[in-house]
Formats: sequence, C-alpha cells, structure tokens
Amino acid sequence: MLSRRIGVLKPSPTIALTSKVRELKKKGIDVIGFGAGEPDIDTPDFIKEACIKAIKDGKTKYPPSAGIPELREAIAEKLKRENNVEYKPSEVVVTVGAKLALYLIFYALIDDGDEVLLPTPYWVTYEDQIKLCGGRPVYIKLSPQREFKLTYEDVTKNITTKTKLIVINSPANPTGMVFDPDELKKIAELCLERNILIISDECYEHLIYENLPFKSIASFSEDIKKITFTVNSFSKTFSMTGWRVGYVACPENYAKILSGLNSQFVSNTTTFAQYGALEALKNPESKRFIESVKNLFRKRRDVIVEGLRSIDGVKVIKPEATFFIFPDFTPYTERAGGDVKFAEYLLEKALVAVVPGSAFGMEGYLRMSFALDVEHIEKGIERIKLSLEELE
Ligand SMILES: Cc1ncc(COP(=O)(O)O)c(C=O)c1O
Repeated sequence: MLSRRIGVLKPSPTIALTSKVRELKKKGIDVIGFGAGEPDIDTPDFIKEACIKAIKDGKTKYPPSAGIPELREAIAEKLKRENNVEYKPSEVVVTVGAKLALYLIFYALIDDGDEVLLPTPYWVTYEDQIKLCGGRPVYIKLSPQREFKLTYEDVTKNITTKTKLIVINSPANPTGMVFDPDELKKIAELCLERNILIISDECYEHLIYENLPFKSIASFSEDIKKITFTVNSFSKTFSMTGWRVGYVACPENYAKILSGLNSQFVSNTTTFAQYGALEALKNPESKRFIESVKNLFRKRRDVIVEGLRSIDGVKVIKPEATFFIFPDFTPYTERAGGDVKFAEYLLEKALVAVVPGSAFGMEGYLRMSFALDVEHIEKGIERIKLSLEELE
C-alpha cells in the first residue's frame, strides 16, 4: 500500500547492473568499473584530522539546523573569494550533501503540475526529485552538435505559463561540458523577465581542465542573485563523498524556509563532518590538493578520449570538466537492442561496467567515469574493443 508519490519513481536502469557488478567482484572476478560517481582518491588527512579533533573536543551534539556558524561564514567567504558573489552567512544552509539541498529546494518551491526545465542529458537525481515533489520535468534536449551546451534558444522554446524553475548544472554530469557564461547570462536575464527561479548546481566547478571561464550564475547581477539558488558540495572537490556535506546559498527568506525544512527532515548535517568541511575551506593545503587531483584527472581524461576515439563508429566529445565522458555508441547499442542491453553485454563479455545513457535521458550513449587509473582505463578500452568484434 504505497503512496501515489512513490509510483512516480521509475525503476532504475542501473540498479540491476550495479548489483551484478558487486556480485562479480565478490566472486573475485576482475571487473573494470567505469561507473563510479566519485573520485578514487581518499579525503586529505588534514580534513580527516580536523574531524577527529572535533569529535574529541565534544562537537557531537545537535548544532543549529542551518549549519555551524563557522562553516556558514567560511562558505560565504568562499563564495565571495572564488565566485564573486556576496552572500551573508544567514543566506547559507549546510545540508546532507548537495543532494539534500536540491531536494529541499524542489520541496519548498514546486506545486503539483509546476514545470521544471531540465537540460537533457541530466543527472538522474533531478528528475526523480522533481517528480517526487509533484513537478513536471520539461526535458530540453541538448544537441551533441553544440557539444551538449545549453543555449538561450533552447530555453525560450520550452518556457510556458507553468514554468517555475530551471536546473542548470555546469560543469555538467554526465557530459563533462561547461556552458558558455555569456549564454548563461542571457538565460538568467530571461528567467528574471519571465519570473522563473534558477538552481545552479556548481558541484564540479573545481574540476575544469581547459582554460575556460567559470562563472557562478548568481554573480551576474544583484537581481539575478535574488532568483538563484547556488548549490555546491564538498563531495567532489575534496573527495568527501561519504561525508555528506553540501550547501545552498540563496536569499535569506528562502534560506530560512530551507533551514526549517532541513530541521524536520534531518535536524542537521553531522556536526563533526561540518568541522572537516570547515577545514577544507580554511586550510591552504586544499589548493594544492585540488590542483593535484585536477592534473591527475586531466591525464586520465586524455587517455580515455584517445582510447574511445580509436573505436570505429563511436563519437566522442572531449569533456572539459568533471570525471565523466559521454560517448555516443549508437551503432553498437542498436545492434544490442538498446543501451541497457548493451551495458549488460559489456559487463558479461568484456567485464567492463558502464552506465547506459538512457539513465540520463539519452539513449544510445554511455556514461563512463574516468576516476580510475590509466592502466585500468587502457585495459578497459581494449576489452570493450575486443567484445565489439563479437557483437552480431
Ligand atoms: C551534478 C551533481 N549534483 C549533485 C551531486 C550530489 O552531491 P552530494 O554528494 O553533495 O550529494 C552529484 C553527485 O553525483 C552530482 O553529480
């Protein structure tokens, strides 16, 4: 007797695949995993130590629901320093990962039937969260001819009287592309004109490999800042995925609502984890850590691009950021009977795990993570190549 709400959740195309990978690995079978959504690097010791110290100092009780004051302040400083946006600490809410920040925002803003513009391919969670909150995702199909970058025209064509929100994720998961800041500014101005709120998910801002300008949407103007929810996370930048610390920055009236909701959902983000996050923002070592991760991922990116480009019929757009690549495998997925079947085929025949593009709203593609070492990337590509020769 489940609620109607639960009925909107679609069966995950990846769960069966993920459990199969786990099963094979448990049996000691050497599966090469291109599915990971997290860096394969440990959290830096200085962050861990700050958390351990916090536990020892007794930071083990409920803190304020919106986050420990020191962290809210450090986040506001970071947004000023790195993103050129002035937020007060009272405009920041610390959440259990960016995932919860997003859910709180959708929950607070969406009424039944409201439309939410969702550039596609999208990160899977957006779609399910929007639907769980009674919203209707309006898929804006991004074109590979424009390297999956969102344009002003894409947005204008999809606005209706019911459009409430747009979700902008740049750098983007799963494509790894960075949207053009001039285009984003035009889109943000259009949203302002048409009374549409903006979520800007900036989780991958520090993993950009090209010399590209990255601009926070809220930095475009004071008026745009007033309609924007800037979402960010400690997960990817500091290899802290399991810590579950993220945040949203937005005008104070919204921040109060989100903090109230946060208090009913989870009370607060784990107290000592917040001290770890605080150290990540404060310690000058962080800069060096981020640079070294970026250099490592850039090399891996180049290896996977070259490897995939050597496969006949596969189209590859070189990702500018993130640790994801989204190659077009259409000639092969068609032969296999769809990308889910093709991913199953690769797992069985090549012992290689990938995520089918349809999980992100785009059939015929694969999302491959390059958060694994060069040796395994090369070995994985070789295995894929061999298995393709046998695909009827
Ligand atoms: C685009 C995007 N936003 C948000 C998140 C969630 O991050 P967190 O671990 O902070 O919940 C992810 C994680 O995969 C992501 O890819």
